Amino acid sequence: MRLLSEKAACNTHGQDSSYFLGWQEYENNPYDEIRNPKGIIQMGLAENQLSFDLLESWLAKNPDAAGFKRNGQSIFRELALFQDYHGLPAFKKALVEFMSEIRGNKVTFDPNHLVLNAGATSANETLMFCLADPGEAFLLPTPYYPGFDRDLKWRTGVEIVPIQCTSSNGFQITEDALEKAYQDAQNRNLRVKGVLVTNPSNPLGTTTTPNELNLLLNFIEAKEIHLISDEIYSGTCFSSPGFVSVMEILKERKNDNIRNQVHVVYSLSKDLGLPGFRIGAIYSNDEMVVAAATKMSSFGLVSSQTQYLLSAMLSDKKFTKKYISENQKRLKKRHERLVSGLQKAGISCLKSNAGLFCWVDMRHLLKSNTFEAEMELWKKIVYDVKLNISPGSSCHCTEPGWFRVCFANMSEETLELAMQRLKAFVAEFNRSNGNTQSNTSKNSRRKSITKWVFRLSFDGGDREPEER
Ligand SMILES: Cc1ncc(COP(=O)(O)O)c(C=O)c1O
Repeated sequence: MRLLSEKAACNTHGQDSSYFLGWQEYENNPYDEIRNPKGIIQMGLAENQLSFDLLESWLAKNPDAAGFKRNGQSIFRELALFQDYHGLPAFKKALVEFMSEIRGNKVTFDPNHLVLNAGATSANETLMFCLADPGEAFLLPTPYYPGFDRDLKWRTGVEIVPIQCTSSNGFQITEDALEKAYQDAQNRNLRVKGVLVTNPSNPLGTTTTPNELNLLLNFIEAKEIHLISDEIYSGTCFSSPGFVSVMEILKERKNDNIRNQVHVVYSLSKDLGLPGFRIGAIYSNDEMVVAAATKMSSFGLVSSQTQYLLSAMLSDKKFTKKYISENQKRLKKRHERLVSGLQKAGISCLKSNAGLFCWVDMRHLLKSNTFEAEMELWKKIVYDVKLNISPGSSCHCTEPGWFRVCFANMSEETLELAMQRLKAFVAEFNRSNGNTQSNTSKNSRRKSITKWVFRLSFDGGDREPEER
């Protein structure tokens, strides 16, 4: 007897991916400095725990916001009964202003075009329901966030067709790759309804360049399809070139006949580090999309007390200004620690300027240039080195040997320990592969001469490969 529906039982959820399996392994043996110092360190979770003290000190100074009070009077009953799926006007206003602030106030957002959802997960799925029918496709540049297989495909029946990006140009989106993906979809008899990008990228930690954004807008104009820009990491951009939203590029373009085809997804899970609060949003210029998404938002609303608390916090402009810049400073410092720790272990990564992770190049540690070898290396890193990192294959990367490593969900000491473990592992790897000390340094010197490194140039923000 089949007890579950096909939908519930089918495996498009992606729970068997190494991305989720790594989390399970971590849960079975989590590192703790005192209780389990030999446990697995979680580096596969894009959480931002670096600025909790700033939020906590704001809460201590503003007890009314979390205490269901307004001017000292309880508003418990008001909040308990509130169920308008358009959301609290004060919260929507505060959220759009926060989104503008992150974009240097170069663009403004109309709260009437904003739909609230329980996190970006719900926002992305809602957009899929609004824009595509089962069996239709969205094109996504690879590597992409492993959760998208669940969020975009599982319940909606929408297909993802990869836009294959490679290390040869720092994983940038090219016109050829876009056209090829479109063609691949047609060969599979899939009607393409749009492109979805994450800017800044998860897992690359890089911002999408204005050139890429223009390319994407030209493409969706030519094909008459949608563009979804998931800008959940927009506030995490910690060094230049700065983050440029698709909304800025859209504003600059003279013909704005495609403005209704562009939709932005946002959430406070990363920039404020509040994934547990489930605060996400869709921003669209298309009234029909806003109306349809609002109807659907009943399935994933943001609770009224959360909206009330966050409307007070985000309306405090002095606080948001300080928070945004201090959080970015801390992320930058942490990112530097990871990059230098990896360097000491003889490991390099894609040059990045945003996000809560690095895209790490471990191709030299593979036994062969295959995804089997990547899995073998990943298992060693999880079970022997005791670090849970995410293999590139779980992000649909087309080249074996890349891994996403998170740096903002742990203490500085834990990150140091993780780097020590990795360094010892690479040293042992070199020893067992007959790489003597002088051999290894010769090798790494040779590599640093011939290696492609990716430069984030300031003019135009292009990420160009540069040979040193
Ligand atoms: C690109 C991207 N989109 C969406 C999500 C889901 O975020 P939320 O917690 O707001 O649902 C994540 C979470 O990691 C993400 O990286």
